Amino acid sequence: MAKVAPSILSADFANMGRDIGKLESWGASMVHCDVMDGVYVPNMSFGPQLISAIKPYTSLPLDVHLMITQPERYVEMFAEAGADIITVHQEATVHLHRTLKLISSCGPKVAVSLNPATSISTLENVLEDIDMVLIMTVNPGYGGQSFIPAMLDKIAAMKQMIEESGRDIDIQVDGGVHAGNASDIIQAGANILVAGSAVFGSDDPQKAIKEIGGL
Ligand code: DX5
Ligand code: ZN
Repeated sequence: MAKVAPSILSADFANMGRDIGKLESWGASMVHCDVMDGVYVPNMSFGPQLISAIKPYTSLPLDVHLMITQPERYVEMFAEAGADIITVHQEATVHLHRTLKLISSCGPKVAVSLNPATSISTLENVLEDIDMVLIMTVNPGYGGQSFIPAMLDKIAAMKQMIEESGRDIDIQVDGGVHAGNASDIIQAGANILVAGSAVFGSDDPQKAIKEIGGL
């Protein structure tokens, strides 16, 4: 069983409040918000204004995935906008430890994401500073891409590293997740699954969330 975090990148942007308002009753555990700057990733999405605009529409935690270069420039702004979890990319910030401490000092939970090509060893020295690791299972930038199967071993290795550290750190997986691969991902060690197109593209999003979470 895993928590499911629908990505609003695949929601209807013209009816965002309506879509987000339904997520809790559909069984979602958090709202995954993909922020893209057109530099760190080729695509652009939305900024802190959208986070503060959707906040009143849900009591679920807002899980803000920053796909932006030098995210430390905007951490405070996203915390003030209502982010409950802030995820930065290891590859996007030079002084990762300082950025993680900054997130924590602003209040949100602290998370780091790794692109498919980035080794889990880059997190060895910051495990005590994080609440969650986000393993990207596609190259970030777009919804609707295919899951990279080689990432299953990476999830398992991350799980082992966390267990050996004795720390309580969530493993979130993002990219190409659907009901057909969710159980393999959960078995590998993930406990939070992000899903965009598999939820919002479904005729029955509630059923999709149930199936993805193995509920
Ligand atoms: C990819 C984003 C994902 C994306 C997932 O860059 O970080 O959160 O929205 O979309 P699906 O589930 O469609 O792969
Ligand atoms: Zn994401």
